[in-house]
Amino acid sequence: KNLVVAFGGASPEHEVSVLTAMQAISALENTPYQIIPLYIAKNGMWFTGDYLLDLKHYEDLGKITDNATPCHITHNELGQAVLEKKKSGIFSKNEHTVIYAVLTAFHGSAGENGSFQGVCETYNIPYTGSGVMGSSVGMDKVTAKALCRSAGIPVVDGIDFFENEWVDDQAGILDKIEKLSYPVIIKPVHLGSSIGVEVVKDRDALIEAVETAFRYDDHILVEKAISPLTEINCSVVGTPQSPKASVCERPMGTEELLSFKDKYMRDDASKGMASADRVIPADISESLTTSIQETSAEVFKLFNCSGLARLDFLVESGTETYFFNEINTIPGSFSFYLWKESGISFDKLLLELIDIAVS
Ligand code: DAL
Ligand code: MG
Repeated sequence: KNLVVAFGGASPEHEVSVLTAMQAISALENTPYQIIPLYIAKNGMWFTGDYLLDLKHYEDLGKITDNATPCHITHNELGQAVLEKKKSGIFSKNEHTVIYAVLTAFHGSAGENGSFQGVCETYNIPYTGSGVMGSSVGMDKVTAKALCRSAGIPVVDGIDFFENEWVDDQAGILDKIEKLSYPVIIKPVHLGSSIGVEVVKDRDALIEAVETAFRYDDHILVEKAISPLTEINCSVVGTPQSPKASVCERPMGTEELLSFKDKYMRDDASKGMASADRVIPADISESLTTSIQETSAEVFKLFNCSGLARLDFLVESGTETYFFNEINTIPGSFSFYLWKESGISFDKLLLELIDIAVS
């Protein structure tokens, strides 16, 4: 059975996605699946071929386009979805691979926000992870929080605005933000891995951070910053009918996005997200753990998620007060390190995601 592992994409989290995909491919080594890489370059072009299986080849992303094989998804004579390769200028009808399922290993933008999931729906290919709705709601921090708020799930107060509104009425927006009182945190609505995120304590810094965030997104969310803050994450596996929560983790330090080079030059580079420092299980009370696990499963269901997700929470340090912060419908490293605790190995976790996708 041919399992397409799809990754990369025109996303600021492109490099993190490459790491997640390489980890998944190596975890799947001793399973019955034949792995077919599908790499989407930053310019949106699709590639396949064995050249893509070696992490070293991603040090120079420019070389990929010279050494890998352009491809696209189409249907064969039998109506099966196939990955078709391009040979000497044309897509070749003979050079194709029937697709059993797609393992989505993108982070951010079109790969994680439902767009790629929509392509799979169009071609009738089973794919891992959440469907179009869960993926797109999960990628939009404002919509995700509005849904949570309506379901009684605690979220932090915030103000969101578009770039044209900021240009038209900066003073009015600043007034509203300052009613939240400093420090506040600025976030692009659709980005992950802390890109464009900043905590500020005064008006000058706020204006600068908002202008920076608009470089990444035309929709910005400003929230009251929790201080002192403890972050707690929890993963959920299953379907909306049967969500199962993992142990909780406490990631340490801030979630800064390391550059691709940084990740490769470290000894533990190939571990990606899995190499970050974290306390597992999180050192919080049993009752808080249970509440966060229950809320995670509830949000997973609310957004109609499927397969796997990691939900991130903000806790007022030393208290039981917590807020839903965001959901990652394709979390870094598939959050496999959160499932090890329950005796589920990385390969088993991926096999379960594939089973859910095809069922
Ligand atoms: N968006 C990154 C990869 C994560 O939160 O896991
Ligand atoms: Mg997060």
